[in-house]
Parts: sequence; C-alpha cells; structure tokens
Amino acid sequence: MAATAMREIMQADHNFGSGKAAGAAGLNGQKPVLLGVRNVVKQYASVYAVNDISLDIQEGEFLTLLGPSGSGKTTLLMMIAGFVAPTSGEMVMAGANVAALPPEKRNFGMVFQGYALFPHLSVFDNVAFPLRLRKLPKEVVREKVLAALKLTHMDAYANRMPKALSGGQQQRVALARSMVFDPKVLLLDEPLGALDRQLRASLQDELKALHRRLGSTFICVTHDQEEAMSMSDRVVVMRDGRIVQVGEPAVIYARPRTSFVANFLGESNILNASVVAMEGERSVITLSGRQFVADGAETGIGEACLSIRPEHVAFEFVEPAQENGDLLLEGSVTDVTFVGADYRVQIATDAGVIISRRRTSEVPRAPSQGDQVWVRCNASAVWRVVKD
Ligand SMILES: Nc1ncnc2c1ncn2[C@@H]1O[C@H](COP(=O)(O)OP(=O)(O)O)[C@@H](O)[C@H]1O
Ligand SMILES: [Mg+2]
Repeated sequence: MAATAMREIMQADHNFGSGKAAGAAGLNGQKPVLLGVRNVVKQYASVYAVNDISLDIQEGEFLTLLGPSGSGKTTLLMMIAGFVAPTSGEMVMAGANVAALPPEKRNFGMVFQGYALFPHLSVFDNVAFPLRLRKLPKEVVREKVLAALKLTHMDAYANRMPKALSGGQQQRVALARSMVFDPKVLLLDEPLGALDRQLRASLQDELKALHRRLGSTFICVTHDQEEAMSMSDRVVVMRDGRIVQVGEPAVIYARPRTSFVANFLGESNILNASVVAMEGERSVITLSGRQFVADGAETGIGEACLSIRPEHVAFEFVEPAQENGDLLLEGSVTDVTFVGADYRVQIATDAGVIISRRRTSEVPRAPSQGDQVWVRCNASAVWRVVKD
C-alpha cells in the first residue's frame, strides 16, 4: 500500500515538480491541487482535535492555518506531514490516498514549533543532517548547505554552535535545514512564535521572499492574524477543529463569513440589528430607527449581526446632511487613543459602542471624551455576518 502511494507521489513529483509541466490550471485560473484533505478527523478520547476538515492545497501557494490556541492547527499540520494518522478521512496526492504514508516518504520539509536544532552539531552540520540522511555525496552536501545558508543569510555562521546564536539566527538555521533537500512542500508550525516583534516582522518579509524564490508550497501555522495576513496567498481560519473560512487575506478581511472571523482578523464593530426585508441577496436593515441596505454572508429576515470595520466609520462634530443610504447615529465620545497616525475613538450610541479609526490629518480637530458627535458610515461598508 505504502509502496503504491510512494510511486504515486513520485509520479506527482514528476508531473508537478518543476512547475512548468504542472498541467492545465483550473478553469477559474486556480493552480493545480497538490494535496487534497478530505473529511479528515482526528479524535483523542472525547476530544475532536480536527473535526471533518476538507481543503485543497494548491501547488506553489503560501497557505496559512490561522486560529486560536487549541483550534487544531498543529494536529492538521502533523497529519499533512505524516506524523499523526487521521482517525478517518483521506489525504489525496495525485489521486492516491497517502494518509498512512510515513513522514520520511513524503519528503516534506518541516519547521517545528520552538525550532529545535541539534545542540551538539554546528550550524553547517545541522543543515547538512537531512542530506547525510539521504546519503548524498560530500561535495553535493557542501554545495547545498552553503546555498541554503546563503538564502537564509546565515552563510557567515556555518561553523558556529547553536548556543552561540540569537533566537532569530537559530530560526534561520532551522529554516535552512528544512529546505536544504528541496522539498516540494515546506511545513512551518509557528515558525516565528519565539521571536520578538521586530525580528518577527523582518523574518515575515524574508519568509515571503523565500517562498517567491523557491516556488514551492508553504503551509504555515500561526495564531497571529497580522502574520497570516501579511505572508499568505490564502488563509484558512480554524476554530474548534473546524474550518470557518478560507480565502485571500483581503477578501476574508473585507468579507468575513462570521462574527468570529470578523473579530479574529482585526478589529470590528459587531452590531445587532433587524432585517425587515430582502432585496434579492441584499438585506434591508433597520438600526436605531433608520433604514439602509447591506450585503452580507447571511440572508433571511429577522435578527441580524453586522460587522463594520473601524476605519470605515467616520465621526462628525456637526450633524451631517443625511446622504442616501448612510448609516447615521448620534453618540458621545467615551474614549480616545492614538494609534500611530490614527485616532481610535469609542463612541456610545443607542446601537451600542462603536469604534471609529480616523487619520489624525483627516479630522478638523482632536476629539475628546464627552464630545457629542455623529457617527457616519456608508452602507457599502456594512457587512452582514453569521453570528457565532
Ligand atoms: N496528543 C494529543 N492527545 C490528546 N489531545 C490532544 C493531542 N494533541 C492535541 N490535542 C488536543 O487537540 C486540540 C487541538 O490541539 P492543537 O492541534 O495542538 O491546536 P493548536 O495547534 O491550534 O493550538 C486541543 O484541545 C489539544 O488539547
Ligand atoms: Mg499548535
């Protein structure tokens, strides 16, 4: 069984390996599927760590699994790597179920949470390890190790021991080790989690650049939404062992399916309102006695949950003319903070507390606590979500 699957993978490598013979892209311009996760479940006693996940991972994409702690990200990654066997479901590569194939036969590169290097081996020997395991000739090992160290900007440190490196440098060595054997897929579990904020930001850029240079598939796990948004082609939002939403960062941000996703990917105002009618797919909403029409991920008449990003909410010191379709609410400022170039203003209205973010350069004067203001938002920035 494993031998058959192995042959299938080698066939897949042959078909997809260089990227140029990858076959026709999907009808809608999607890349070919590298790995299909089909109804995968992982159960530990009464806990469903992963609960019926299906997902197509595309050739060459940078995919990020994003979710709070305990949402099943590591478990899903471990099943993709082959370290954990699914309780049920399939992992399909080139038409074969590889769910039972051991990790060493998958040839995926992996960076684990906490980046454990071998402490007794030098940087060079750490990176050489996967190649020596594969019994490659000495000159090839040297050439590949130096190339990988160069890619991760660690070529000057080849003779150092891990304990003589900073956290960020150790992380780069772990990255070099994971990609030195040219894996088709690089799996990264919270690869930047142990690093301070500034270093994380610069390594995020490097990971992205590395992905572009290598052209291989990256599957990354993080609980940090900014990290997920800044690096990924697609983000998979997970919660309680399930996928809540999959999509490009900008799309998930602007069009979250649920209130959980809206809140997890940045700040959002979540308001309760009622839908009095539907106009096709659009909801006719009443909020504080005013009516407007909004799009959304949810349809139907009755109670509704709305998501509005703070950067789409304006506040005015003088009552604005009521423009067609605007959401307009009277309120009073309860808190003002400076966030970089923005004011972040909390405004109490009879629809609840609403947060507005405005460029300091775009408001006539600094708001302060107790100011009476009008909250204004274009209906196109109001998005109806599923409450969860
Ligand atoms: N080996 C295990 N035995 C029992 N429970 C586990 C095991 N691995 C993970 N879990 C449980 O499965 C859930 C998902 O864990 P995990 O995949 O590590 O989440 P994440 O990486 O998103 O933080 C958690 O409730 C965790 O306690
Ligand atoms: Mg984890």
